[in-house]
Amino acid sequence: MGFLKKALFFGGIYGVGVYAGAVAWTIRKDVLRYESEPHLKPIVPEKRVVSIYNDIAEKYSKKITKEELFSGIYFLRFFHLRNAKGHVLEIGSGPGSNFSFYKWKQIHSLSLIEPSEEMHKLASTRAEKKVPESVHLKHFAEFEKLPKESSFDTIVQTFCLCSQENAVKSLNRAKQMLRPGGQILLIEHGQSKYGWLNKILNTYAESHYQNWGCVWNRDINELIGESDLELESCKRYNFGTTYVIKAH
Ligand SMILES: C[S@@+](CC[C@H](N)C(=O)[O-])C[C@H]1O[C@@H](n2cnc3c(N)ncnc32)[C@H](O)[C@@H]1O
Repeated sequence: MGFLKKALFFGGIYGVGVYAGAVAWTIRKDVLRYESEPHLKPIVPEKRVVSIYNDIAEKYSKKITKEELFSGIYFLRFFHLRNAKGHVLEIGSGPGSNFSFYKWKQIHSLSLIEPSEEMHKLASTRAEKKVPESVHLKHFAEFEKLPKESSFDTIVQTFCLCSQENAVKSLNRAKQMLRPGGQILLIEHGQSKYGWLNKILNTYAESHYQNWGCVWNRDINELIGESDLELESCKRYNFGTTYVIKAH
């Protein structure tokens, strides 16, 4: 290796090292700053969340496609949501992220609850390609608009507890809408099993919420425990931050 190549090679390693060190130092300072506030929980006013999701609908829809392949969430959706059957209610359906994962032959109807108009528009466009005509598709902007007598065989909610102002109330309403013998399928994200990772989540919770309308450090087990749901199984992935839940 000539002198110039050696200089470029070692200079490059030095530069990357300095950059990585600076990033680590910044994160360390931030994490230490919030050490005394392990449960930073930004308030989630419903109107603010809907306005954030209206603004980011397109960006969100594009972002998750790539990220979820990388994080394995794509496969969690694939294996969990194929269990949905009968009359299905999906809460916080967003841009229709789950349409590719349902086994349509076993689904009679799909009711969506989605308060963000922009998210709903994306879901409608996606539904034209993904949802077979045999499936009766309905959209509701909020729980209150559902017919009172509704009772569903399956209720699905993915990555929604993080953005609901009153997550426990929403879980309880879901339970009331479930037919006896029905199932609630959740994929959610929240606190990790690891303290060091929770410190990082706590540190950036506020800025992540402002950008994405999502509180990523919620204690999902606590929320389920406070609700009327009866837990059948809960598997955790991605350092314990992704929760795949079956309940009724
Ligand atoms: C992170 S996105 C998840 C979208 C989709 N379920 C997915 O898996 O990609 C959260 C969605 O929940 C919706 N949402 C927020 N508050 C809600 C509420 N109280 N009830 C139902 N949906 C809500 C938002 O508008 C947004 O579309």
